[in-house]
Amino acid sequence: MSSEKTIGLIGGTGNLGKGIALRFASAGFKVIIGSRKNEKAKIIADQVNKTLGSTLAIGMQNSEVLKHSKYIFLTIPFQHVRTTLESLKTHFTDRHVIIDTTVPLSFVNKKPTLQVPKEGSAASYVKSCLPSNVKLVTALKTVSSHALEEVSKPLNRDTFVCGDDAKTKKEVITLLSNIDGLNPIDAGPLEVSRYVEPMTVLAVHLNKKMKQKSVGFKVVIE
Ligand SMILES: NC(=O)c1ccc[n+]([C@@H]2O[C@H](COP(=O)([O-])OP(=O)(O)OC[C@H]3O[C@@H](n4cnc5c(N)ncnc54)[C@H](OP(=O)(O)O)[C@@H]3O)[C@@H](O)[C@H]2O)c1
Repeated sequence: MSSEKTIGLIGGTGNLGKGIALRFASAGFKVIIGSRKNEKAKIIADQVNKTLGSTLAIGMQNSEVLKHSKYIFLTIPFQHVRTTLESLKTHFTDRHVIIDTTVPLSFVNKKPTLQVPKEGSAASYVKSCLPSNVKLVTALKTVSSHALEEVSKPLNRDTFVCGDDAKTKKEVITLLSNIDGLNPIDAGPLEVSRYVEPMTVLAVHLNKKMKQKSVGFKVVIE
């Protein structure tokens, strides 16, 4: 299995993971959906294959995903990041590129609220949980799973890509450009993620107010 034309997902069985899996499999990528449970991963992979009429998605345990992929999306709830990454610690190598999508969002009195960790952002928190030789980029934090799952429609939105290693960030931008209608924007170093993550809270508010599910963002340059 070539790891260059393969993407992996840690926690790929959830809403965002499945949406990303559908988009990359639509673009001809092999997609490895990770889970804590092998069986659950296989069920979601079967759903992706059935939707697309293809065989590009497979399901495995999260640790196996790391063996077979270079580019790995982290798509788990923020509160489980540390325990999950610690449990996978011995499986990371310096060839891995983790693409963090997490947002520290929770609902307080039914209102979407950003619970900023002391590191300043989910991105910096994820960095503190990863071995130092693993490359980290953030993306898709403001892209709704609902929009991703509607594979027949181009996404028609931007995504902000942040990271400290210019070469790795460029690779991830090239990778994301394979998603139909997605425009990845180099938003700067990893620390800029602290300004991206609150935009997700805004998107959730707007979805609620406008009775929508797929609010997203586009940067206008005039
Ligand atoms: N949903 C969106 O539209 C959206 C948009 C932008 C960013 N995000 C961010 O993307 C991340 C995933 O969101 P989501 O809506 O896809 O979440 P989700 O559906 O609630 O969960 C995703 C997956 O996380 C795994 N998980 C749950 N509890 C866990 C635990 N205790 N330890 C380890 N893994 C656990 C589960 O996989 P297994 O049970 O198979 O292990 C689950 O399928 C979040 O950080 C969110 O802020 C979401």
